[in-house]
Amino acid sequence: MKIAIVGTGYVGLVSGACFAEMGVDVTCVDIDNDKIEGLKHGVIPIYEPGLKNIVIRNYEADRLHFTTSLPSVLNDMEIIFIAVGTPSDEEGNADLSYVMKVVNTIADHMEKPLLIVTKSTVPVRTSYRIRDVIRKRLNERGLQKLNFDVASNPEFLKEGAAVNDFMSPDRVVVGVESKEAEELMSKLYRPFLLNNFRVIFMDLLSSEMTKYASNAMLATRISFMNDIANLCELVGADVNMVRRGMGSDSRIGRSFLYPGCGYGGSCFPKDIRAIMKVGEDAGYEMSVIKAVEEVNNRQKTILFHKFSRYFNGDIKGKTVAVWGLAFKPETDDMRDAPSLTLIESLLAAGVSVRAYDPAAMQEARKYLDDRIYYAADIYDAANEADALIVPTEWKEFRMPNWSILRKIMNNHLVIDGRNIYSKEELASYGFGYSGIGQK
Ligand SMILES: NC(=O)c1ccc[n+]([C@@H]2O[C@H](COP(=O)([O-])OP(=O)(O)OC[C@H]3O[C@@H](n4cnc5c(N)ncnc54)[C@H](O)[C@@H]3O)[C@@H](O)[C@H]2O)c1
Repeated sequence: MKIAIVGTGYVGLVSGACFAEMGVDVTCVDIDNDKIEGLKHGVIPIYEPGLKNIVIRNYEADRLHFTTSLPSVLNDMEIIFIAVGTPSDEEGNADLSYVMKVVNTIADHMEKPLLIVTKSTVPVRTSYRIRDVIRKRLNERGLQKLNFDVASNPEFLKEGAAVNDFMSPDRVVVGVESKEAEELMSKLYRPFLLNNFRVIFMDLLSSEMTKYASNAMLATRISFMNDIANLCELVGADVNMVRRGMGSDSRIGRSFLYPGCGYGGSCFPKDIRAIMKVGEDAGYEMSVIKAVEEVNNRQKTILFHKFSRYFNGDIKGKTVAVWGLAFKPETDDMRDAPSLTLIESLLAAGVSVRAYDPAAMQEARKYLDDRIYYAADIYDAANEADALIVPTEWKEFRMPNWSILRKIMNNHLVIDGRNIYSKEELASYGFGYSGIGQK
């Protein structure tokens, strides 16, 4: 089977490499020439555990190919996946310009039947729009009889665990409107069925909606727990205990009950905004989702306020160590990262920032250029700092040498945005501690 995946980012590259690993002949297409040339030489453009090995192995086995030219490979394929970005536009809608550019290229060059599958997260009815644009263009080209199909196959992988998620997903959701499309998608995913997961077929609109509804649900749990955590602080309860008590109810479950300094990343913020817009367009206000976003925006400011409150607002000229820049551990993705909200507030208040992240330093430079100091390691970041703030819970931050930190820091305050430290243990080293949702 031959497929092309257009867009070689987090989703496109992981999907392409994993399909190739299962024996599919995959061509990854991207407009970024540097990225494509790098990949041909084994340079992986993103940090994603386990990805490099499968990319190199399958490229060498001639099952994984890279190109910048979609027209040159299009008519050699059975399926074209669209996996380009769908960021928010200025009003919060999903910006479909990248998707539609790919669709127009397909419509301009296809000469034989094709299945066109959206893997990008797109608003409900986008598959219909794609179908209509292609049909219209084919008719203009005198190709009225040329058949094609559209399908929706939203991606649920998590950055940081993307390879594993793709290889053994909880489920695969596929929206189709013909038996032929269902059969082709079944054939493609059959090797993964040996791992015992389910492919759930449904109609196109429901498939598109499933992706937004899933992300909205997860974001809701996060904002809900952040609200509970903030209330815990005010009334003297400990959210770590509350979380355990709640999570052991099987109707609630333990996942996604961790309070913190807000969600970020390339998906939740933009998908939350997009589903609100889908609601607006349909004349329906998504009240819960609206509150989820409001709570999250407030939560992203919480670390700065804790720091400022500790010094009674007298923070100009202070120095802060920030451990963790990526929006979550095991990724270099900085999109909408809570660390950015924190650092921008610190810089605006005249505070110097010394930051360290195990994978995202290069990405961070794109957002923060030389306005902060990029430290060589956690101790370099903490050197002569007035406080240590942790927005991202990388494993290597969990058991630092507190005796060394006690010696090198000017002032001994830890603000823990992910509740990874024990207040008692830090107190024994002479550190003040402020977590999320604790007394
Ligand atoms: N990142 C995630 O964890 C994740 C998870 C699930 C779903 N998604 C969704 O998947 C989609 C892709 O996300 P991503 O994080 O992989 O994006 P990304 O920004 O990492 O990658 C997108 C790639 O598309 C390329 N591109 C843009 N226009 C192109 C064109 N016309 N032709 C060929 N290539 C083009 C870009 O150069 C880039 O390499 C989005 O809709 C996102 O919401 C992302």
